[in-house]
Amino acid sequence: MISVFGSANMDLVAYVAQAPRPGETVTGREFRTVPGGKGANQAIAAARAGAGVAFLGAVGDDAFGPGLRAALAEAGVDTAGLRVVPGPSGVAHIVVEDGGDNSIIVVPGANGAVTGPAGRDAETIARSDALLLQLELPMDAVVAAAHVPRGVSSRAEVILTPAPAAPLPAELLEAVDLIVPNEHEAAALTGRDDPRDALEALLGLVPEAVVTLGARGALYGSRDGTRLREAAVPVRAVDTTAAGDTFAGALAVARTEGAGPARALRFASAAAALSVQREGASTSMPHRHEIDRLLE
Ligand code: ADP
Ligand code: NA
Repeated sequence: MISVFGSANMDLVAYVAQAPRPGETVTGREFRTVPGGKGANQAIAAARAGAGVAFLGAVGDDAFGPGLRAALAEAGVDTAGLRVVPGPSGVAHIVVEDGGDNSIIVVPGANGAVTGPAGRDAETIARSDALLLQLELPMDAVVAAAHVPRGVSSRAEVILTPAPAAPLPAELLEAVDLIVPNEHEAAALTGRDDPRDALEALLGLVPEAVVTLGARGALYGSRDGTRLREAAVPVRAVDTTAAGDTFAGALAVARTEGAGPARALRFASAAAALSVQREGASTSMPHRHEIDRLLE
């Protein structure tokens, strides 16, 4: 079982030839509301990839809250740990240009009210094989969650996606088993532009690291000396919005099933490649049978 302690946002997505510049108004081609947020995305990706998943987080008491809960529940995610707090849900205002580039404004809303897990939420984490964390909740809450497994000698491994990129406090890093930044986040965290150098620097901070390289694949390193490179599956990408979240969710599933690093990288790359061929975030995440078919 996997616990995800993280954000749920409603993605308000406008598809347009070119994003407007300041003072400019442009006419878009299409608009969609799609449940998202890095936490909810990783939870849905992991559930579709075949794991039992519990989501811990918060939505507002506005019109978006029920839709966010329903999206998680439809994917089979346990939402008993999803609170409803007064005020707006988190939203992400996303502009997707025809070329596939996107720009995003996240307004945290209810995510900003989440505090460190206690009571039943802490018990859920303790029972898990993996805990997935991202940085769209208050840092104090993320740090507290990261320390839950060790505090109760749980076997749960702590997997951190350090996004959006932010300085990582030592109290967080000391509790992380595996960090999974994209190459931009890895560069921001380490000050090393070459992802191979960034990977080595990350291994000075945590025992294992994966640096994702978009269409160029991913790098893996471990303090035991293992270094791997996984090429991306060659596909025509139409929307890379949640590639990293799909990758992280699927990677956690493979690891909790006992896969070694090479097999886990292949599984995550296949899931992410499937997701970039379809529009949207949660809407684009593949089911287990699709991942298995691609890997045959
Ligand atoms: P993020 O979405 O966090 O920016 P990346 O862009 O690095 O993360 O993508 C994460 C993973 O998704 C990559 O390591 C790769 O496996 C897969 N991926 C991303 N873009 C493509 C693409 N154009 N074609 C195939 N796979 C892709
Ligand atoms: Na997608």
